[in-house]
Amino acid sequence: MRRFIHSAVVCIALIFLTAGLSLAEDGATIYTESCAMCHDGGSDRAPSREALRQMSPDRVLAALESGPMISMANRRSPAERRALAEFVTGKSFAQPLDTTPAPKALCTGAPGNFANPLAGPVWNGWGVTSSNTRYQGAAAAGLTAASVPRLKVRWAFGFPGDLSANAQPVVAGGRVFVGSPSGLVYSLSAATGCIHWYFQAASGVRAAVTIARIETGSGARFAAFFGDLAANVYALDAATGKLLWKTKIDNYPLARATGSVVFYNGRLYVGVASGEEIASVPADYECCRFRGSLVALNAATGDQVWRTYTITEEAQPTRKNKAGTQMWGPSGAPIWTSPAIDPQRNVLYVTTGDNYSDPPTANSDAFMALDRDTGKILWSRQVTAADAYNSACRMPDKANCPRFERP
Ligand code: HEC
Repeated sequence: MRRFIHSAVVCIALIFLTAGLSLAEDGATIYTESCAMCHDGGSDRAPSREALRQMSPDRVLAALESGPMISMANRRSPAERRALAEFVTGKSFAQPLDTTPAPKALCTGAPGNFANPLAGPVWNGWGVTSSNTRYQGAAAAGLTAASVPRLKVRWAFGFPGDLSANAQPVVAGGRVFVGSPSGLVYSLSAATGCIHWYFQAASGVRAAVTIARIETGSGARFAAFFGDLAANVYALDAATGKLLWKTKIDNYPLARATGSVVFYNGRLYVGVASGEEIASVPADYECCRFRGSLVALNAATGDQVWRTYTITEEAQPTRKNKAGTQMWGPSGAPIWTSPAIDPQRNVLYVTTGDNYSDPPTANSDAFMALDRDTGKILWSRQVTAADAYNSACRMPDKANCPRFERP
């Protein structure tokens, strides 16, 4: 009996071993079939094969299960996606990446005076001014143009597990506020780079942080606002990093908030974009139903005040592609930009991206002006007409490419 148990255990171990081997092969095969065309060369903004190797398996799995690569492997089994994540990174899930900052990276001693972070030198939000001028004079900067060539590196800060740093840092109250592709948002000492606080968002944070004063139930405080690549907008206590509220501004699975949030008179304005242009590559992906919008939120509560879509109608079924997959349209016209405000006219200005599928619409690739109180579209001026495009247009079979399917 004991011998029997022994050989049964060996047998099970062998089965596990072979299952492990075939999954590793699956990872390589799936990569060649579904990923290599974009990632081997690192084309069309896709991280290169080498860049993928430096990621953690968790990061790759998150991209495949809830991130920008969701359509590329969503018909594979969970085990296959894990095998793929281990294959592209060359690492196993058994070695998780620890992004917790080392204790020596944290600030020690008193946190410093943060009573009014906007009183001293600031570079706040993406546009700095509500009209997005991105300019400040020497007095506000505490720096002249002539002194810029003499600046020396004082400190450098690395984002654990990240290969890029694409969020614009913001300075207020003697601190630097910055997000990262892994979704960690930091409040650093501007003098030393030590970490006052850090916050893990649900997805990557590419937008700049905006600091503003709000009235809450427990009194006035300064909040740090930003959006993430899963279309969440957050308000944190700027002094402590404590979450005040979090709002999902669009439930469409590929929706994202890339443009920085703008604060004005107690409201936040933020554009909604998406990753569907890239997701539409597989021939069996039903392209495309996302439509861009601009959302106004109550800055104290995160509640929506209004939303204006760049495309008025919801996508309808159109034709079938050559693989027999249902196509939908119109779609796209995302808002990637941070709105600019004209306080005199009470108008918000945004720009839009392309349509992802046919039929093309009037507000894609356009400048749009919206009423700040109601979101009503005042005017729109299209710069490039009939620009329906998605990443399938770069692929050999072009199954979902509107231009190649248009009758
Ligand atoms: C049509 C081209 C294309 C295909 C096919 C494709 N990708 Fe990507 N991939 C991209 C692009 C473009 C980005 C950058 C997306 C962005 O920044 O919004 C990206 C980003 C990624 C990222 C980084 C996400 C992050 O957290 O920064 C990972 C990981 C990834 N892809 C893995 C894969 C895997 C694995 C496959 C195969 C199942 C695959 N991709 C198939 C184009 C592609």
